[in-house]
Amino acid sequence: MPEFLNKIKNIEMAITFRDVILLPGWSEVDPKEVEVKTKATKNYFINVPFISSPMDTVTESEMAIALARQGGLGILHRNCSIQEQIEMAEKVKRAEATIIKDVYTISPEESIATALKIMKEKSISGLPVVEDGKVVGILTGRDVRFADLSLKVKDLMTKNVITAPYGISIEEAKEILHKHRIEKLPLVDENGKLKGLITVKDILLRGRFPNASRDGEGKLLCGAAISPFDFERAEKLDKVVDILVIDVAHFHNSKVFNATKKILLNVSADVVVGNIGTYKAAEDVITKLDKVAGLRVGIGSGSICTTTEVTKAGAPTLYATAQAAEAVKDYNAKIPIIADGGIRSGGDAALALALGASAVMIGNLFARCKEAPGTLVAIGGRYYKQYRGMGSPSAMAKRFSIDRYSGAKGLAEGVEGWVPYKGEAETLIQELKAGLQAAMGYAGARNIQDLWEKAKLAVLTSLGAQEASPHDVLLPKGAGLE
Ligand code: XMP
Repeated sequence: MPEFLNKIKNIEMAITFRDVILLPGWSEVDPKEVEVKTKATKNYFINVPFISSPMDTVTESEMAIALARQGGLGILHRNCSIQEQIEMAEKVKRAEATIIKDVYTISPEESIATALKIMKEKSISGLPVVEDGKVVGILTGRDVRFADLSLKVKDLMTKNVITAPYGISIEEAKEILHKHRIEKLPLVDENGKLKGLITVKDILLRGRFPNASRDGEGKLLCGAAISPFDFERAEKLDKVVDILVIDVAHFHNSKVFNATKKILLNVSADVVVGNIGTYKAAEDVITKLDKVAGLRVGIGSGSICTTTEVTKAGAPTLYATAQAAEAVKDYNAKIPIIADGGIRSGGDAALALALGASAVMIGNLFARCKEAPGTLVAIGGRYYKQYRGMGSPSAMAKRFSIDRYSGAKGLAEGVEGWVPYKGEAETLIQELKAGLQAAMGYAGARNIQDLWEKAKLAVLTSLGAQEASPHDVLLPKGAGLE
């Protein structure tokens, strides 16, 4: 017989960000020196523990590029066709690289009009001209400016191309680029066949963003959300991105587990699964699925979520993080945890990391940034950006990511609204990082592993929570606290 009374007698406390504080501890660390580099997944490090949500008002290529350049990571949303998502991923991957290996090229017999079209579509400023795989020229923006569009590439290309052997070091490439005052250096094998390209732009970008999250080839790190039931999307994106995120609201489900098995077996990207919210769910992932490279945890804490409101089901992010972290520890599984939803500051991130997360996933704060795809509007003299839940009626109307939610007919699990405009993601990342480093300084932690060991939390009463915010003072509008 079910033990009804025990269900409330031994009831658990589902702690949320607003219930607890991080207790100060003995500290020998200067917050500025606190190290926040972390693992986003088993095989990929990021330099700040902030990951953007795969939501259609948060992460498309612009956001993913901006975040990776600042040391974080963007997960491209899946509320679009497979082709559109692949194009977003390719944009991120082509934004910069030490050596471009899959170079866009053109044949000498093509028209200048075609060359210009490719350059515009791919946002590039020049094309190596290739015949039978061999470099026979190079066509740059300067060659085609004001040109007659009916001419052929061979009429305007630079024929004496400076090339270098594939395998050359970046330092040697820099010298050649400087010596010849050129912007692009095609790399060729012993038969003159094109193998890669080094550009001045990429070298400069690397210097400008030394903290960027990069893959083994120096390209920006990129993740993409997928449905467990869309094998085609998984297979195609696997060729472009580093990380695939199985994106469902309730991962602890037999059909989802079975579908994910096939994906895990067939892709080479790191696969993050989620969302989960309990010890048991994490335990089942660890014991029933092979090759999982990350856990995305938290159900119902997102600022646009109505899941818990309409269904009363949920596992608040902080609670879910501790649950999953305990299972990972018990099984010595070494799977990084991404705490997802409800994060409003670097301090909230510190709480999630204190309970065992390696990184946090954020929608609301990133939706406020210039790089987010949502529309910018002015309301009452202030700027706002559109932000909507992926389970909101308008997002679900696009239908591509409708299987993220329960599928109960007509049931929305999210809302749509506006968030204050913040400006560039870089500013936000710096603020979040400073808040996190300060919090870790209070806890006496030098790095995230140290925080896992040392951090202690205490519960606030709801009256106490009022004291923990500004009080008994009239705040002028715009003080940044409203
Ligand atoms: P924040 O608090 O940063 O949370 O806005 C973002 C996270 O919320 C989740 N998400 C949803 N959850 N209904 C939900 O229940 C929704 O419509 C919805 N859309 C996003 C998701 O985990 C995201 O990362």
